[in-house]
Amino acid sequence: MQPAVINIFEKAARKAGKILTRDFGEIENLQIQSKSISDFVTNADFNVEKSILETLKYYFPNYTYITEESGKIDGDENIIIIDPIDGTSNFIHGIPHVGIIIAKMINKEITDGIIYNPILNEFFWSSKGKGAWCNDKRLRVSNRSLLSECIIGTGIPYGKKIHIDYLKEIDEISKNTAGIRRLGSAGIDLAYVAAGKLDGFWEKDLNLWDVCTGSLLVLEAGGKITKMDGEIWTIEDRDIVASNMNIHQDLTKKLSLL
Ligand code: IPD
Ligand code: CA
Ligand code: CA
Repeated sequence: MQPAVINIFEKAARKAGKILTRDFGEIENLQIQSKSISDFVTNADFNVEKSILETLKYYFPNYTYITEESGKIDGDENIIIIDPIDGTSNFIHGIPHVGIIIAKMINKEITDGIIYNPILNEFFWSSKGKGAWCNDKRLRVSNRSLLSECIIGTGIPYGKKIHIDYLKEIDEISKNTAGIRRLGSAGIDLAYVAAGKLDGFWEKDLNLWDVCTGSLLVLEAGGKITKMDGEIWTIEDRDIVASNMNIHQDLTKKLSLL
């Protein structure tokens, strides 16, 4: 059974999801601004976030909010993190790999989170100790243990981010796996690791709102998360390697062969 906090997150996400669905791929109706090179925001991102905040503030008026588009709203030690559209570039181009992300964090630990893709009607949720779920299905990571049979997701650095190391990482991983996928929403990519669709995922320089729910989904589905070198990952880290656990050592070894 979904905990009460997840029910409230679901209510907020389903309501805001209608705005996302209405504007999905409607390039002529979107006002697109560039935050920096290859980093876009649309009026839909702002409208979705506003709607989520409206619903959540009714139930949790005293919480602290950390949001991608409105910044931080100070409150008590309970923190709610919001990414209104993870995968904005996909959203603009009408590619349905997008998600609304909401998570709760206390003492630097994610306790509950959701990712909702209203286009594909996939509602991912997890609460600490309660497993990872998509709609009514409990999620488990894949059980492949040979890296050579695995499909690994990633995020390609864009704009002014550092590409040199990344090219070496791509070289190592493409030579040693069944393939690489760049799907365009770090949150949903992590959810796909939890669902056993991707066997692993890595990306550098992510934000708290990209990884909050996805990291909990992977752990609750039996997977593993570390830094690039295999060391302990915390929610404050910006680089992430996630996997089905079986391949983790091999994957981080290949990624740190720089
Ligand atoms: C982005 C997506 C993308 C990742 C970027 C993120 P946004 O989030 O998760 O897959 O590669 O690093 O910034 O901007 O679409 O919310
Ligand atoms: Ca994001
Ligand atoms: Ca976003």
